[in-house]
Amino acid sequence: MSVFIHESHPTFHLQNDEISYVMRVLPDGQLGQLYFGSRIHDRETFDYLLEGAMRSHSAYPEDDQDLLSQEHVKLEYPSFGTGDYRQGAIEILQPNGSRVSNFKYQGYDLLPGKPVLEGLPATYTESDDEAETLVIHLNDSVSGAAIDLLYTIFARGGILTRSAKITNNGSESFLLERAMSFCLDLPDCRYDWIQFSGSWARERFPVKRRLDIGTTEIESLRGHSSHQQNPFVILKRPEADEFSGEVIGLSFVYSGNFRTSAQVDPYGVTRLMTGINPTWFSWKLESGQSFQTPEAVMVYSRDGMNGMSQTLHNLYRTRLVRGEWRDQVCPILINNWEATYFDFNEEKLLHIAEKAKECGVELFVLDDGWFGARRNDRAGLGDWVPCTDLLPEGIVGLADKITALGLRFGLWIEPEMVNPDSDLYRAHPDWCLHVPGRPSSLCRGQLVLDFSRPEVVDYIHAMIAKILREAKISYIKWDMNRSITECYSAAASPDHQGEIFHRQILGVYDLYERLLQEFPHVLLESCAGGGGRFDAGMLYYAPQAWTSDDTDAMERLRIQYGTSYGYPLSSMGSHVSAVPNHQLNRTTPLKTRAEVAYFGSYGYELDLNRLSAQEQEEVSRYSQFMKDHRQLLQYGTFYRLQSPFEGNEAAWMVASEDLSEAIVGFYRTLSTVNQHFSRVYLKGLDPDACYHIDGMGDFYGDELMNAGLVVSDGTSGKVGEDILPASDFFSRLFILRRCGCKNTESRD
Ligand code: DGJ
Repeated sequence: MSVFIHESHPTFHLQNDEISYVMRVLPDGQLGQLYFGSRIHDRETFDYLLEGAMRSHSAYPEDDQDLLSQEHVKLEYPSFGTGDYRQGAIEILQPNGSRVSNFKYQGYDLLPGKPVLEGLPATYTESDDEAETLVIHLNDSVSGAAIDLLYTIFARGGILTRSAKITNNGSESFLLERAMSFCLDLPDCRYDWIQFSGSWARERFPVKRRLDIGTTEIESLRGHSSHQQNPFVILKRPEADEFSGEVIGLSFVYSGNFRTSAQVDPYGVTRLMTGINPTWFSWKLESGQSFQTPEAVMVYSRDGMNGMSQTLHNLYRTRLVRGEWRDQVCPILINNWEATYFDFNEEKLLHIAEKAKECGVELFVLDDGWFGARRNDRAGLGDWVPCTDLLPEGIVGLADKITALGLRFGLWIEPEMVNPDSDLYRAHPDWCLHVPGRPSSLCRGQLVLDFSRPEVVDYIHAMIAKILREAKISYIKWDMNRSITECYSAAASPDHQGEIFHRQILGVYDLYERLLQEFPHVLLESCAGGGGRFDAGMLYYAPQAWTSDDTDAMERLRIQYGTSYGYPLSSMGSHVSAVPNHQLNRTTPLKTRAEVAYFGSYGYELDLNRLSAQEQEEVSRYSQFMKDHRQLLQYGTFYRLQSPFEGNEAAWMVASEDLSEAIVGFYRTLSTVNQHFSRVYLKGLDPDACYHIDGMGDFYGDELMNAGLVVSDGTSGKVGEDILPASDFFSRLFILRRCGCKNTESRD
C-alpha cells in the first residue's frame, strides 16, 4: 500500500494491491476526483483526466483559464451553491441566512494506521502497517468552517473507508444542515444499482435497477437503519455477475437515519453519496466545536458480487467486530420466545433448558417478559427488575440453575424503550421522545426513551449493569421494537432539536460501549423486531444480529441470501423453529430447517420437548454437526451459487481458507416431477485437488467447478432405490474433504 503525493499540482494517489484512488486539487482550490478503480501505475500528473470546456448556462470561477466549471468536474466533497448544481455533501446555514460555502484545499496529513472515530463505530487496524490514512484539510474562509476528509486505504483488498470532520473555526456559531460521509463522482453511469429492501419479516431482498439520468435513492427516516432499506448498496457493471466483472459495494457504518443516493447528471456522471439523512438533521457548531460523520466503507472488486462480498465479510469479521467473541465460534443457543412467548415460569424454562442440554445446546436465552409487570407487550418496559412471581429467585437464581445444567445463560433486554404502563414512565414521563402538547404515537404499546439525554442512558445503564454484575450472564439479546416518531427532546433547546435523531443513536452506541467495556465476556446479539437494525454500525458492538423474525426455512433462505451480500455468515442469527411456522404457517422438514440455519450463527427457537423422540435424536445430530463444522460455516469463504430469488432451486457454499474442506447447501422450494437434471457449479476449490463427497465418490476440484456437482434426484424422473425421494422444501448438504484420489487416474 502506498499513498503517492505530488505536491507541485497537488495530486494524491492512494494505491494498494488492488485499487487506486486519485484526487487532485483543482485550479480553483476544490478537491477533485480523478480516478477510482483497479490499481494503476503512479505518475507525476494525471491532468489528462481533467476535462474542461465552455458550456452554455454553466458557472465558472473568476479568471478560470481551464474552463473547469464545478458543474462538470468530479468532486470529492462538493457543496451546492457556487456552480455545482448536483446534490452537495455539505450544507451550512450561516448567521446571515446564507447556505453558500466554498471549500478550498489547505494541506494534508498522512497517518499510519487508522484513527478511532470517537463515539462512533468504525473499522480499525491492529497494527500501523495494515492501513494508511490520508487527511485532507479544506477550508471555507467566509464561514470559518473547516473540513478534514479522512481516507483510509487498507494494505490489501479493494477497501477504502471515508469520513469527514467539520470544525467551526469562525467566531460565530453555524448550523450544519448536511454532512455526508462519502461522495464519489464516477465518470459514467453504466451501472446496475442494487439495494436491499423489504419490511418486517422479509428483510434485505435485493432490488436491482439500471442507473439513468436522475437520482436513485434509498433512505431511512425511522431512527434506525430499518427493515425497509439497508445502509448498503451495490453498483455493478451490467455485465458483472456473481463471479466476474466490476462491482462497488458501499456500506455505511451507522445505525440511524441514513440516505444513500446515486445521482446521474445530464452528462452521464454518477455521484454516489452516503451519510446521515439530511432530512431532520442539523447540528449547531459553536466556535471551536467539531462534528465527526460516521464512516463509509467502499469495496471494489473485479471478481463480481461474490468477490465484493468476500472482501467485505473478511473486513467486517476481523476489523469491525471486536472483542473476545470476534475469533470464537458462536455458541448453539436456544431461545424461549417462540416456545412460550409471555407464558412462562421458572419451571417451564428449566424444562426447556434441560431438553435443550440433552440435544447439544450450549446457551439458553430467556427472552421478553421476565421483568416488572411485563406479562404482555403493553406493560413493564423500562422496569428492569426481575418478576419474582415468575422467577422466585430472580435472574440470579435462574442463571445459577441454568448454568448448573451445563448451559450458559443469556438474557433479552430492550433498553431503549418504555411502556407508558411502567414505573419508569410514571416517575419520568418526560424521559421519552415526545413533543410537549402533542400526543405521542404508540407502537407495540411503547415509547422511545430519550437517549440523547445522558441521565436517561445512565439510569438504564445502572439497571442493566446491576443484573450483569449479579447474575451469571454470558449473552445479551438487545432488542428494539419500534421506529421513532415525534423526535423531540424535552431537554434540548429549539436550536438543538435537529440533533436528536443522531444524538439518540449516539446514546445507544454509548450504552453498548459501556456495557462492552465492563462485561467483555458477554456476547451481544443485536435485534430490532428481527432485522430492523442489521447494519455495520451494530456489528462494531454486537458480533451477531437476529436476522429476521421470520424463521420459516424457505423465507430464511432468501433473507440470509440477501443479507450475505453485505454481511458475514457469522453475524446472522439463524434458528430452527417449530412447524407449522409461526410467521406463515408453513411446514418444512426439520432437516431443511437445520440445513438452512447452519449457514449462520445457529440455534433453536422452540420447545424441544414437543418434538418426538426421533426428532429429538435428529436435533442432537444437527447440533453435533454444527459443532463439528461451525468454524468452517461461520469463518470460511462464502459463495452464493444459485439465487433463491431466481428460481425454484438455490445453492450456496463455504470453503475453508486452505481449500481442504467445503460444505455445499442445495435447496428446492417446491417439488416437481419429470424435470431437468440439476448440477451446481462449485467455486473456490483447488482445481487440482481431489475431494471426497460422502455417498458420491471422489472428484477433482476442476470437475466440481466446471462440469458441476450433480444434484439430480427424484424430481428428474429417475426411479430406483438409490434415488433420493423428492419433497417440497427440500434440502441437501454436500460435505467435501480433500483426499488422495481413489477412483480417478492422475490426469497428467
Ligand atoms: C422481537 C424479536 O425479534 C423477537 O425475537 C422477540 O425477542 C420479541 N421481540 C420479544 O418481544
